[in-house]
Amino acid sequence: MKLSLLVLSLLFFFFIHRHRHVHSSAVSELDALMALKASLDPYGQVLTSWARGSDPCTGSSFDGVACDEHGHVANISLQGKGLSGRIPPEIGGLRSLSGLYLHFNALIGEIPKEIGSLRMLSDLYLDVNGFSGEIPPDIANLTNLQVLQLCYNRLSGSIPRQLGSLQKLSVLALQYNLLTGAIPASLGDLASLKRLDLSFNYFLGSIPATLANASSLQVLDVRNNTLSGHVPAGLKRLNDGFQYENNPDLCGVGFSNVQPCPTIYLDRPEPLGPNALSKKNIPESADLKSSCGEAHCPNRLSGRKAGVVLGVVAVIAVIGFTVTGFLTFSWHQHRKQRTPSSLEDSDKRVSSSQVIENYAKGASPLISLEYSNGWDPLAKGGGGSAFSQEVFESFMFNLEDVERATQSFLESNLLEKSSFSSVHKGNLRDGSAVTVKRYAKMSCKSDEAEFLKGLKLLTKIKHENLVRLRGFCCSKGRGECFLIYELVPNGNLLQYLDTKPGSGKVLEWPTRVAIIIGIAQGISYIHEDKGDKPRLVHQSISAEKVLIDHWNNPLLSDSGLHHLLADDVVFAMLKASAAMGYLAPEYTSTGYFTEKSDVYAFGVLVLQILSGKRAITSMIRHGVEACRFEEFVDENLEGNFSETEATQLARIAILCTRDSPTDRPSMRTVVQELNTLISIS
Ligand SMILES: *[C@@H]1O[C@H](CO)[C@@H](O)[C@H](O)[C@H]1NC(C)=O
Ligand SMILES: *[C@@H]1O[C@H](CO)[C@@H](O)[C@H](O)[C@H]1NC(C)=O
Ligand SMILES: *[C@@H]1O[C@H](CO)[C@@H](O)[C@H](O)[C@H]1NC(C)=O
Ligand SMILES: *[C@@H]1O[C@H](CO)[C@@H](O)[C@H](O)[C@H]1NC(C)=O
Repeated sequence: MKLSLLVLSLLFFFFIHRHRHVHSSAVSELDALMALKASLDPYGQVLTSWARGSDPCTGSSFDGVACDEHGHVANISLQGKGLSGRIPPEIGGLRSLSGLYLHFNALIGEIPKEIGSLRMLSDLYLDVNGFSGEIPPDIANLTNLQVLQLCYNRLSGSIPRQLGSLQKLSVLALQYNLLTGAIPASLGDLASLKRLDLSFNYFLGSIPATLANASSLQVLDVRNNTLSGHVPAGLKRLNDGFQYENNPDLCGVGFSNVQPCPTIYLDRPEPLGPNALSKKNIPESADLKSSCGEAHCPNRLSGRKAGVVLGVVAVIAVIGFTVTGFLTFSWHQHRKQRTPSSLEDSDKRVSSSQVIENYAKGASPLISLEYSNGWDPLAKGGGGSAFSQEVFESFMFNLEDVERATQSFLESNLLEKSSFSSVHKGNLRDGSAVTVKRYAKMSCKSDEAEFLKGLKLLTKIKHENLVRLRGFCCSKGRGECFLIYELVPNGNLLQYLDTKPGSGKVLEWPTRVAIIIGIAQGISYIHEDKGDKPRLVHQSISAEKVLIDHWNNPLLSDSGLHHLLADDVVFAMLKASAAMGYLAPEYTSTGYFTEKSDVYAFGVLVLQILSGKRAITSMIRHGVEACRFEEFVDENLEGNFSETEATQLARIAILCTRDSPTDRPSMRTVVQELNTLISIS
């Protein structure tokens, strides 16, 4: 009897003790969560479910929070929630956190160094926000880190050399920031690193030869930086995985579009190679000079020249900052005004995010989390509007059809991949070839009614110069939606720009004219009110969106797509569009898109097609204005073009790209002019 009493009281003690233990740690985590809520969501509009009275770990009381079996917070998943605050230092209190997903928000301020105390963290997604300041070196303490996504922010300073110690890191995405300094040679020590994206920053100096040693590396993107010196020959093994365009001072052998190095370079030790590793105390950004050997360097940067370079970089950085700030600002205004959603563009530019890759494995960290409200827009059917339910249903595919068509998304059927979507090729049961565009739920509009409305709109768009939608399918189980389009076999227009003579990709003059006319007709149709199709704005016209078929007819893709996508995704793609020069100037000041913004993008396309170039330089523009054919008509045509037509097309391009939208013609007028053009010539 006594014994059993003792046992009972012991048990009781253990129970109390255990309970207290769990309770106290839960309390401190609750404190951290409440601090997080106050700071991430300063206006208290998003995290309303996070309340002191409730337990973050039971059910789904805390939106986006998932706990492990010990009752500790394991994942926080708040991507695309419209958060606009900062990450507070209290984040460091969530010791069991393994995934922090805060991407596609409008968070600002610095990344707190306390993030470095989250020893369990494996996934850190802070991309597509407005973070500024430097990358805290404390991130190097996160020994379990596998994915570090910091792209599309305003981070400055250089990459902390210490990151080279992250042995499990497989993805490091830093593209589209304001980062500068040299690429630390220590990154070559990252044994698990598969993808390293440093593109669209202000990195200086050379590409460290050690990167060629990173044995798992498959993708290295350093486009649009100010790198110089030797391209390490070892990077050839990456084939197309190595991208380096727009670094005019790189030199080397065996890489296309890279100048051979001046011979005198050959004798020098590799800049930032193993020798540079020993100079541990040199700040990374000072390596600008060390990239230019000792005694007989041909164009050693004098102090003044380096100063000028740094000055220019600073000015560019300031401009970049201002423009991004402006865009962010107008975007915010735009959201406030609740105008139709903004712009959607070549999402391929955000090419290196891991997100879709995870989907492809069917094990996405993002979709494995339960979302608070179920999502199954199609379950409710078409909603019984005046619109023919039958027609709508004829577009519905089931998941089985989609999986069969793409052979369960077989890797070899993957055509392209970005952080928002992936595109697979496939064959339907009727034998027709299709492309299947795959979007994660989080990339789609969260309001089901809106989403459905968008889908219906898509089914009404039909024109010979627009890619035809065959159907769609949404899977609650996979947390994904699929859009099935007819396959257009000959790639997109981008592939026909910047081509070399003899590559077989140089378009003949009559083909160019026909493509311009076809695109104009497609856009004009989108802008019209036709039957039950309302007037629409495409919002993301670019060379990439112009697909070419067997007969060299152009077909514009992704019409109306922005009606389906979440504003945050649309915003992220807007940045890319601005970078490519298709964004009409009024967008930055008004935050509105109109038909005239499409006309602007069309004008840019015409210039690209005439010149055969992706980048429209001031020389091309001046040439167009002064009608100097040799300056704007593609030299690959070797003079085989009609001067009358070139003059007229140049005139149309100028009118369409006028700064003021009211000065641009309507698409209807453009089509009429183009029709007279072919009838007279
Ligand atoms: C990271 O590690 C460094 C060196 O061990 C230490 O000084 C720093 O305080 C750590 N940072 C955090 C946030 O734990
Ligand atoms: C790493 O690269 C350097 C320079 O390219 C080379 O000397 C060294 O042997 C490589 N180390 C390994 C482990 O491959
Ligand atoms: C947190 O996310 C990881 C990565 O996706 C997942 O493996 C894990 O199961 C999640 N943990 C919880 C408790 O949901
Ligand atoms: C990339 O570099 C090219 C060539 O220097 C430049 O024309 C283009 O504007 C750059 N793009 C961005 C987004 O910086």
